[in-house]
Parts: sequence; structure tokens; C-alpha cells
Amino acid sequence: MADTSVLPNPLREGIRLHRTPEPCAMVIFGASGDLTKRKLIPALYYLYREHMLPAGLSVIGCARTPATDESFRKELSDAVRNFLHLGSESDAFVKSFGEGIFYITDNFSDQKAYDQLKLLLGRLDRERGTCGNRLFYLATPPSFFPVIVKHLGATGLAKPQVPGRSWTRIILEKPFGRSLATAQELNRVVTSVFDEEQVFRIDHYLGKETVQNLIVFRFANGIFEPFWNRRYIDHVQLAVAEELGVENRGSYYEEAGLVRDMIQNHVLQLLSLVAMEPPAAFEATAVRDEKAKVLKSIRPIPDDRVNDFTVRGQYAAGFVGGQKVPDYRSEPKVSATSATETYAALKLSIDNWRWADVPFYLRSGKRLPKRVSEISIQFRRVPHLLFQGAGGEGIEPNVLSLRIQPNEGISLKFCAKLPGTTMQIRPVQMEFRYGESFGAVPPTAYETLLLDCMLGDATLFNRDDAVEIAWKLMDPILERWQQDGAKGLAFYEAGTWGPAMADALIERDGRKWIRL
Ligand code: BG6
Repeated sequence: MADTSVLPNPLREGIRLHRTPEPCAMVIFGASGDLTKRKLIPALYYLYREHMLPAGLSVIGCARTPATDESFRKELSDAVRNFLHLGSESDAFVKSFGEGIFYITDNFSDQKAYDQLKLLLGRLDRERGTCGNRLFYLATPPSFFPVIVKHLGATGLAKPQVPGRSWTRIILEKPFGRSLATAQELNRVVTSVFDEEQVFRIDHYLGKETVQNLIVFRFANGIFEPFWNRRYIDHVQLAVAEELGVENRGSYYEEAGLVRDMIQNHVLQLLSLVAMEPPAAFEATAVRDEKAKVLKSIRPIPDDRVNDFTVRGQYAAGFVGGQKVPDYRSEPKVSATSATETYAALKLSIDNWRWADVPFYLRSGKRLPKRVSEISIQFRRVPHLLFQGAGGEGIEPNVLSLRIQPNEGISLKFCAKLPGTTMQIRPVQMEFRYGESFGAVPPTAYETLLLDCMLGDATLFNRDDAVEIAWKLMDPILERWQQDGAKGLAFYEAGTWGPAMADALIERDGRKWIRL
């Protein structure tokens, strides 16, 4: 047996252990928006309830809407009650937390607001013991990122206040640009003021419990990794389906479309975790190096072959969950002739030893029959059919399904003998369900990610190089679609699994979409 007592174990050293962060001030730019009320404040409430927040944590909202400390406190306490459906159980949070909430009216380009912010941060260090630790959260539309970052730099707020003893970090919300060139420009602006180690780019999919479990599943179990390659795997499917339409986000979505909104970030992040090589340790640099490496190995789709490897669709009117829903072009703030895609399917290949000739089929869409995100690994068929005439012709390949949401869990499909005196074979499922096995409600993605950022752990955040590689892969597709306009856009009825052309994309290869 190996003697592990002498050498330090890098895995133990890199591991993310439970710790309470140091006191800090969290400054939210764009604090009057939905994200603060729906995600950030509820996440802070849950962390508070679990005693994971540092004493003295202070929140400063900065936004264009005029407000006072008092009115902002009230807005946030209402948000906690309304969005989490809480009664008096949130009183203690509201009371203790309320004292640490402040507001600065800021159009983001007025130097006076940053001077005011600097004074307030200094006061909080003295009065609430925030020790010079600062977390800037950019929850504004991305067009404001550069101006905020530049002002933070010019005001002297970007560098750690007490070198070696305090920290300053910045969280950016997606989208990180809308093409390779714009992402590079954003990275250039941000890293001209902050060091890359200070920058935390949120992709909330990485904070989902099941997504983290994917890393545990692959690398804490001995039996799966030997099969995790081209010798045993036929292909991989990644599906992120939503019932929702574009809601009230028509103007954003018209500019974005499904690939920019979901594939460039969430789906490619999932793919990188499924396909990456084992990292040397579970810590930020090692994990993110491997993710970037595998993204770099994805074969770019040549611009003259985009239509051979992709399908784009837009929802027409239909029924979802028994409700009649309008077509995308009739949604508020959407053009009546819009060519924006609300569905996309892609076939990608990874050019490396592990994945050569194993296609990765990606699909995602709005107004599909249900909300479900799943990664399915389909294994190769048996090499020889032993059970001819016993239903054996229909022997289905093994499929390992990693269910990201809802009903988080993992299932394995395999063949079993139908009970009886004859030899008949049917596929059955072996199931692991998170809820049943652990009986606990997992933290939301924002809880995990906010806490990680306060602790300085960037493992579950996106790095500049990975963002750029992902855009490099998507740019030729988006450019081709832009040139083609509505030509080549396939319509699908809301409440169905997308356009028929998407079925053809996978069926051409003798495969089928897995039923979700
Ligand atoms: C966001 C997209 O990043 O993710 C939305 O902008 C999408 O369009 C959402 O609805 C999906 O997230 P989740 O966690 O509900 O699967």
C-alpha cells in the first residue's frame, strides 16, 4: 500500500472545504434590477440561515433608480419575504442584515458616485469591521461594464486596500461579450484594471449541485473513468430544454438568441466538464486548465458547412402545459420578422485521443414540452447479438443519464430478462435520486457561487481564455446564420421537441435524440 503519510496530498490541499468568509462589503451595481431581488438577496438569506455569512457583511446597492438606504432596505426585505414566501422567520435576517444595507444613486459614469462609494467603504471598514475586503458585483446590462470598471480603477478601488491582508474581487454576470472580438475587448478592459485572479465570471450552471456532482461522479469513483472514452462510448447528448418563452426579455433576446444565451456558456461548460481530462487537483487553476484544454480540442465548424452541423429553429404558437402560447414573433419587443433562434441543435467533435469519432450532440430550446437538463452518455452496442429471436434484435445500448434538473439524479439504462419461462429482454433503469438519497435540499447556484467568491475560490467560475475559446467556436455559426437571415430558420410548434430538421441532424448518423 502506498505510504501517504509523508508527502502532502495535493487533492486534500486543493479541496474546497467549508469555511466562513472574512467580513466584507459587497457592492452591487445594477442593484435595482431583478437579479438582486430574485437571486442575490435570497441567496444571502439562505447563507445567513445556515450561519455561513461573516458578521459585518455589508451590501451597498448602486443603481440609476433614485432611492435611499431606507427605501432600499425595505425593497430587499420585501423581496426576501415575497420571493421566498416567508413570514416572520425572515425578521431576524431583515433586522440584522438591514443595518448593513446602503444605497448610492449612480448612473455609473459620474465620478462623484464613486467618490461617495469610496468614503462609504472606508466608513464600513471602521464601523462594521469589513477589513478592506470588497466584492464588486456587476449586475448591470453589459454595456455598462467598461465604464464601471474604469471608474473603479480610477478611484483606486480595484486594488486590494491593505496589500497581502485584504482582498478585492469583481463578479461579472453573463453575457461576456457577444462575439470573440467583443469578449476580447471586455477581457482587455477588465484585466487592464483588475488582475485575472480578482475576476469571477459567473455561469450559474457551474454552481448547480448536480453539475458539481458530475466532477465527483467522474473522479471520486473508480469504475466509470475507465469506460469514459471512445472505446466504450458511442456518443454524448447534452440537452437543456425550457418550457418558458422569452418572457419580458424580448429586447435582450432579439440581440442574443439561443446560442449566445445558452450554448456559448452553459452548454459548453457542461460539455467541458463531461469531456475534460482528470485535473491534477480540485482547485481553480487545475480544473480550469483542463476545461480550457478540451474546449480548444473541439473541431471548429467551417463557415461553409454550418448547415451540415447545426439546426436553428424558432417557436410558432402552440400549447405548453395545456396553455395556449403565442409565437416568438408576437412576444413583446420582438420584431414581427425576427430571424432570432429560440432553438439550436449542434453536432460537435473533439479532436483528441479520448474522444476521436465520438460525436457530441447539443440541443437547447425555449417553449419545449418541459424544463429538463440532462447529459446522456450512450455506450456502444454489444459486439455480438447472442439473443436473436428473444427480443434481442431490439437490445438497446446502455445509457448513463445525468439529470441536472429537475429530479436531480443519475440513471443507468441496461437490459434485463423479462420474468417468465421464455427469454425476452427489456431495457430497465437503475436510479439514484439526490432527494431520496440525501433528503436535503441542495443550495441554489448563487449561494454556492457567492460564498466561493467571498472565499476566493474560482474553481466554479469561468476564466477569460475559456470564454474566448467558446466564442471562437460559436462565431462562424452565428455569422453564417446572420448572413442567411430567416432563410434556413425552421419553425416548430411551441410545446414540441423542436424542428424536424433537428431530428434529421442526428438520424443521419443512425442515432436518435434520447427521450427526456
Ligand atoms: C439564463 C438564460 O442564463 O439561464 C435564460 O439567460 C434561461 O434564458 C436560464 O432561462 C436558465 O437557467 P435555469 O437555471 O433555469 O436552467
